[in-house]
Amino acid sequence: MSIKNVVLDAFEKEFGDSVGAKVYFAPGRVNLIGEHTDYNGGHVFPCALSIGTYGVAGRRDDRKLRFYSVNFPHLGVIESSLEDLVPDPKADWTNYPKGVMWAFGQKGMEMPAGLDLVLYGNIPNGSGLSSSASVEVLTGFILRDLFGFDVTNQDLALIGQFAENQYNKVNCGIMDQFAIAMGKKDHAIFLDTADLSYEYAPIKLEGAKIVIACSNKKRGLADSKYNERRSECEEALAELQTQVAAKSLGDLDEETFEKYSFAIGSDIRRKRAKHAVYENRRTVRAVEALKAGDVAAFGKLMNASHVSLRDDYEVTGVELDTLVEEAWKVEGVIGSRMTGAGFGGCTVSIVKDEAVDEFIAKVGEAYLAKIGYAADFYVVEIGDGPCAL
Ligand code: GLA
Repeated sequence: MSIKNVVLDAFEKEFGDSVGAKVYFAPGRVNLIGEHTDYNGGHVFPCALSIGTYGVAGRRDDRKLRFYSVNFPHLGVIESSLEDLVPDPKADWTNYPKGVMWAFGQKGMEMPAGLDLVLYGNIPNGSGLSSSASVEVLTGFILRDLFGFDVTNQDLALIGQFAENQYNKVNCGIMDQFAIAMGKKDHAIFLDTADLSYEYAPIKLEGAKIVIACSNKKRGLADSKYNERRSECEEALAELQTQVAAKSLGDLDEETFEKYSFAIGSDIRRKRAKHAVYENRRTVRAVEALKAGDVAAFGKLMNASHVSLRDDYEVTGVELDTLVEEAWKVEGVIGSRMTGAGFGGCTVSIVKDEAVDEFIAKVGEAYLAKIGYAADFYVVEIGDGPCAL
């Protein structure tokens, strides 16, 4: 059965008739390089994936909201209403779509009616491939389609981020929602988060594949550590600003940073800021290398990104380090690094076609032996942004 039929079936089973209901899709994302730069006014280089979240939505005649997820059948139908757009742990995953509905209201776009919504995601759970941003952009896309709100895809990204920041209290940057809302098949998005200017870069990996390795580590303290890194960078920037004019860490090149880094009053904050500055420059260089057809140079910059995230930003951990360091040992691996927020989640590697099987076998075996549980591997395709199916 196709995924479209799976979600339609679930809709009929839970909510009765699916006449008038429509099916939608929004992708997940993987970031190729430019990590923890998006809230520092730097560049990122993510792409949308062909896996993501499917949704069936039907407009109601009243103000009720009913939600069901094929991924969490034990939670059953979760009911709410347009009068109840308030974050609540008991609302579980529905806090993501509800956050977006709330955010539309905050922007002056009140929903005129409630809806029934069934979701199914084929992004591995908690993998760091942005299942929550995928749900947010999907919800925004559905609201626009059902109620005719006048918003662009870029607005959908900003509304999703606003919902995540204000409703779900995760202080994330714009990368995930932007990559998902603006995704383009076989292209990555070179985005300058300082002003949201962007450019699509074709990803033509002749003879190589993008392989994601999911650590299966629970991302326990990820959100609080994420917010901690963010404030460390903000503090370091304020210290640098006593010496040099810069709106963000992304404004600085390596030399200027080295010249004024004495102004930062702690080694930890100096390392955090150093990562943000160097990673931004690496991202710009990586895209230049790719444009020049130099995939090997791109891969080396991915490796350097991981080292910096491990040693200076300290967001990797033994699980992600094992996946990456084992990957580096396999011949035919062009580059490998952690991707996303870190503290668990996954790695992204560019692997030559003929080495993919060996990569999965060797890295998988070494990971299991060292960590005690298995990693999962996915050979992924770069897909388009959200759509109605
Ligand atoms: C998470 C956040 C993004 C970005 C990355 C790190 O995915 O949602 O905004 O900060 O971490 O690059």
